[in-house]
Amino acid sequence: MKIIRSPAAMTGWSERLRREGVTIGFVPTMGALHEGHRSLIREARLQCDALVVSIFVNPTQFGPREDLTKYPRPISHDRAICRQEGVDVCFEPTVETMYPTGFQTTVTVPAVARRWEGEARPHHFAGVATVVTKLFGMVRPHRALFGQKDFQQSVLVQQLVKDLNLGVDIAVRPTVREQDGLAMSSRNVYLSQDERGRAVVLYKGLQAGAKVIRTGETDARIIQSAMAQVILQESTITTDYLAVCDPRTLEPVSSVTSRVVLLGAVRVGSVRLIDNLLVNTPRRAS
Ligand code: PAF
Repeated sequence: MKIIRSPAAMTGWSERLRREGVTIGFVPTMGALHEGHRSLIREARLQCDALVVSIFVNPTQFGPREDLTKYPRPISHDRAICRQEGVDVCFEPTVETMYPTGFQTTVTVPAVARRWEGEARPHHFAGVATVVTKLFGMVRPHRALFGQKDFQQSVLVQQLVKDLNLGVDIAVRPTVREQDGLAMSSRNVYLSQDERGRAVVLYKGLQAGAKVIRTGETDARIIQSAMAQVILQESTITTDYLAVCDPRTLEPVSSVTSRVVLLGAVRVGSVRLIDNLLVNTPRRAS
């Protein structure tokens, strides 16, 4: 596996392969790789001839009171996973090469980024949209894979690629979960043992929402309250939002008439966790 740090060398490598007709798959990450990343990497490996994984903890998507400095950076462990999964290039640009002196341009985020994480983390999606655009420019992939765990991010990236004609095919893969259902996330390492035990309540809340939809409930307030009641059972966990949304626009719906996404964000101690479930409406007998 090659480790490339310079954006120009990265682009040179990709351009050579593209000229030979090789399809390039790309999994952008901030490192601290877990089984969720591994499943994206495996899928990309199957779908593409050559595979690039980027590891870059992007400072512009962190807020001033967020965890940039303490964000986990286990680079040897991350490279080992990439090697095990047959990654061709681990792209590890530095902050200085990504944002050199004089850097000015920011990608303005679309409406899908306004609510939910966009509201809770005001500059987050501008940082994501800008770095993803830059990484696509440097890696020049044919296809990039993202996890459904960051549902709003995946919708944003699809909109970005469409609006800016970036010519990258985007695939979104299902969330990988721990045995009890907790969504895998690099931030789970911040949870104490006790918090880890309680954190699964977010998934349980979303499941409760999905269950009432499957029984035929259409009123979003009732679905939301079913989710909230489960989360309230863990008195130490605070809810940021629980929402029933259109999965394309991420606008809340008042009544469930077709497929919806249930979005949730909670705080477990000082750790903020997000999760989501896509739910189809039950078929009605005619
Ligand atoms: O999902 C992530 O890890 C990051 O937001 C991404 C897409 C790598 C951009 O920094």
